[in-house]
Amino acid sequence: MKFVFSILLAPVLLAQPVGLSLLFNNGEAKPITFYGNPVRFVHEIDLVFTAPAQAADLGIDPLMKLVQTNKLDWAGVKMVDEDWRVTGSTFKRQRFYRNAKWMNAASQFTIYGVTGQGKRAGRPLVVQAGRDDEAGTGDMFVRRFVARQIADGCKTRADCAGAQFIAQALVQLRVNKSAKAVVFPADATGIELEWTANPGVIYKAALKHAPESSGTYGFQVELKVPQPANGKYFVAGEKIPYHVVFRDGKGADLFRDRKLPTYAQFLRDENPLGLAYYSNRIDSTVYYALKHREGNILVSLAGPVEKLGVAKSLLNGDRLLDPEAVIANTATDGYSGVFTGLPNFAISLGSGTKQEEQFSDTVTLTVPKDAAPGTYVSAVKARRLFGGEALNRAAVVTLQVGTPNPTARKPATGNCEGCHQGSTGFANVLHGVSDRRACFGCHMGLSFEPDNALDVRVHSIHSRSRRFGADFQTCTVCHLSPLAGAARGALRGAGF
Ligand code: HEC
Ligand code: HEC
Ligand code: HEC
Repeated sequence: MKFVFSILLAPVLLAQPVGLSLLFNNGEAKPITFYGNPVRFVHEIDLVFTAPAQAADLGIDPLMKLVQTNKLDWAGVKMVDEDWRVTGSTFKRQRFYRNAKWMNAASQFTIYGVTGQGKRAGRPLVVQAGRDDEAGTGDMFVRRFVARQIADGCKTRADCAGAQFIAQALVQLRVNKSAKAVVFPADATGIELEWTANPGVIYKAALKHAPESSGTYGFQVELKVPQPANGKYFVAGEKIPYHVVFRDGKGADLFRDRKLPTYAQFLRDENPLGLAYYSNRIDSTVYYALKHREGNILVSLAGPVEKLGVAKSLLNGDRLLDPEAVIANTATDGYSGVFTGLPNFAISLGSGTKQEEQFSDTVTLTVPKDAAPGTYVSAVKARRLFGGEALNRAAVVTLQVGTPNPTARKPATGNCEGCHQGSTGFANVLHGVSDRRACFGCHMGLSFEPDNALDVRVHSIHSRSRRFGADFQTCTVCHLSPLAGAARGALRGAGF
């Protein structure tokens, strides 16, 4: 029986379509290597257009002059939102703009395979973007067409004189709901993307080819928890050396020698297997800009699960550079939690002196001293960008602390699955975390990023989206019990 089963299964696995992730910065893309020639669909399209930095505050006018964006229909554009951050001794202001015709209207993307001498060949891949204000329209679940102005170096929250001003347009589509897929010609030397909102412009990416045997698509992450010292449960103060296993789609460990690429190798693109690390160069901002490309690998531990909630503690950003950061404690938050980056933020955010440091796929977290007994939850999330395919994946495990007896959580929010299922389920959107008990271990407020708190994140996304498909003010869409406070992070009417 087993034999028959695997014979039937094998061709299905081989025929697994591969998602294509495209990123164009001012119309330019890095060359993409295709491994073999599987069926492909579009998983992510990001077009980022950045006007040269200015010393004067011109709003987003520079985008209307920039050759890559000046033919877009900007009619109706207006500022809808503003965000301030502390950046060392100065402030960073961001202003967000929506409602331009090109942002609102339906548009279409067409991707062609191109063979030698620039000849288009084979069937193109077509992606409908749908409308901004109509839930469910278009092929992609996440559709964010916006512009922003970044003012870096404001002296105070009221004074941006002397700052550097950058205007950027962002066209972001991800999470494909449709089954549209094609095989590009095996001898394609490039792909060309056309977008109906900017007719006549062709965005080109060069293609290279590698044999299928030299690299396997797909991505899975596993979090291996060692046996506790007493064989039954971990105790307060005990160190847990987790083994984070990164695998390709066939389950092969990508780093069998347990050595991960150094941060410097990642920065230099000497990272053939495509494991992504945190990069602040992306300048991501919740909802509006490129969060899905951040590639931040985190490992967390929090519990007991029945006590989890949005932490009242605010994590001081400096603590991120510690070997592990305490994100919640029993006295203040009712539960305890720790997390750390992989690599540690001392490497990715630090002075730069540690970028060549070798590190492994072992991440050690210490059960906090104040840990109450019960079931704890640990999670890891990561991104792999390999051969044109980008996948964000996560793993969640539970473990016992202080007692062999499991405890259970009664969630305060729910109904998420009404909208998040199948292709739009939690395993497929954003960072692929599908166990909602795990959210709290990574989403506490940060001193430099208060919006990292879970409620702020979830309220931000859904209230800014005009594709939510429900009234955000009807709190019971998600909340299962009566509420005492306002929805932090929510924006009324998406700012319009
Ligand atoms: C292992 C850590 C971790 C866990 C667990 C986790 N997140 Fe995140 N989350 C992140 C990080 C880091 C980011 C920033 C973007 C990135 O790197 O993917 C993020 C980003 C987000 C965003 C912002 C997306 C955007 O487009 O701006 C939302 C919303 C979010 N998470 C919700 C959740 C929810 C809901 C859960 C639980 C189901 C969860 N997260 C679990 C680490 C985590
Ligand atoms: C009424 C439908 C609906 C419900 C209910 C809903 N969501 Fe969503 N969610 C959406 C839509 C639509 C998007 C995409 C929004 C966009 O990009 O414009 C989304 C996006 C997300 C994302 C991905 C964000 C990103 O940047 O990729 C996360 C995470 C998420 N929702 C978490 C939740 C959680 C947790 C709940 C329940 C507490 C929930 N959602 C309930 C419709 C819903
Ligand atoms: C899209 C889903 C969604 C909607 C709609 C929503 N919330 Fe929330 N809210 C959440 C999530 C997720 C959390 C995080 C806590 C959790 O899941 O237990 C949260 C947390 C909160 C908290 C903090 C609770 C705490 O643990 O400290 C408050 C207060 C809150 N929401 C108020 C509101 C109000 C008021 C509305 C309606 C105007 C609203 N929310 C609408 C998803 C939602």
